[in-house]
Amino acid sequence: MTVVAPVAGPASRPAPALLLGGVPLATPLVLAPMAGVTDRDFRLIVRRIGGVGLVTMEFIASKALVRGVRKTLDMMHFEAEERPISIQIYGSDPDTMAEAASQVEALGADLCDINMGCPANKVLKGCAGCALMGDLDLARRIVATVRRAIAIPLTVKFRLGLDASRLGFLELGRICEGEGADGVALHARTARQMFSGEARAQWGEIGRLKAALTIPVFGNGDVRSAEDARAMLAETGCDGVLIGRAATKNPWIFRQSADLLAGRQPEEASLLARRDLILAHFRRVAEREESKWALHKLRKFTGWYTHGVPHGRELRQRINELPDVPSFLAAVEAFFDQLDAAA
Ligand SMILES: Cc1cc2nc3c(=O)[nH]c(=O)nc-3n(C[C@H](O)[C@H](O)[C@H](O)COP(=O)(O)O)c2cc1C
Repeated sequence: MTVVAPVAGPASRPAPALLLGGVPLATPLVLAPMAGVTDRDFRLIVRRIGGVGLVTMEFIASKALVRGVRKTLDMMHFEAEERPISIQIYGSDPDTMAEAASQVEALGADLCDINMGCPANKVLKGCAGCALMGDLDLARRIVATVRRAIAIPLTVKFRLGLDASRLGFLELGRICEGEGADGVALHARTARQMFSGEARAQWGEIGRLKAALTIPVFGNGDVRSAEDARAMLAETGCDGVLIGRAATKNPWIFRQSADLLAGRQPEEASLLARRDLILAHFRRVAEREESKWALHKLRKFTGWYTHGVPHGRELRQRINELPDVPSFLAAVEAFFDQLDAAA
């Protein structure tokens, strides 16, 4: 990692915490890529709350991108306000991946990330995602070919390995570094584990990877609070932390973590802030998506957003019966008004 020494400059521009392949990240906190979650609306929410150093898009199939599939291209819109932003691609053919990466660069993304960690069967069957950890020669060719194709920084995200008997993360990390990647991220679980077990019990492997490489290493897995983010950095010595699922329940986690890292007391989001965020998010979804997809998305996010909110379960049960987006929005608004009145 290149640590930037604090320099005297305009007060409004604090020195970046770290440089990732030349891209300054204001904090070492990254919104992890999540298919079906880290779309433009969600990335903007996280950005506007603050504290996040880098946001990542949902993963993009290299084949679909190269073929110009409309739905894929539509997913790839982002706004200047989201920067720095990384676009993650997946696939198993080096030339297709290189072509997709060139398109990512042409779109103006700040970084390109390669997915070598997805454990979903659909992706593994195509020998992409985490399957590449079982074919390190192919993984090497992909990193090398993509590296030659683009000038923007390149990162690779992977897991510990296919299963406990095949932990390839150290070797893959060295391959990435040797082929010119600018950073790597390690989710401290195997593909076999999917999302089960405790990544935290395996955070030590993130420390081993950090000790083995000179490029920045980002740790990932089960960071659920600002305290966890600080602990992962301290315990593993990693350069940054990717936060995924916890951000869906608490998009304030980046600001809280940044505050804690800067020695400030993190603040819990108020009920009012939660209400405003949910309603603003849902109105944007309703404007953009077809009503069937909008309802599906709103239900999913309500489940996450009301986690830990008093009587959140009642709302979650109620919304399953609501037939359309306007009644859904009205129910969410009424729920928070009632909570407010009771407070
Ligand atoms: C709904 C969902 C979708 C995900 N999609 C992706 C993806 O597109 N690319 C990827 O590299 N990881 C993906 N992941 C994995 C996350 O980036 C992250 O590695 C994992 O959730 C562990 O971090 P966490 O404990 O902070 O959630 C996804 C995870 C979830 C829960």
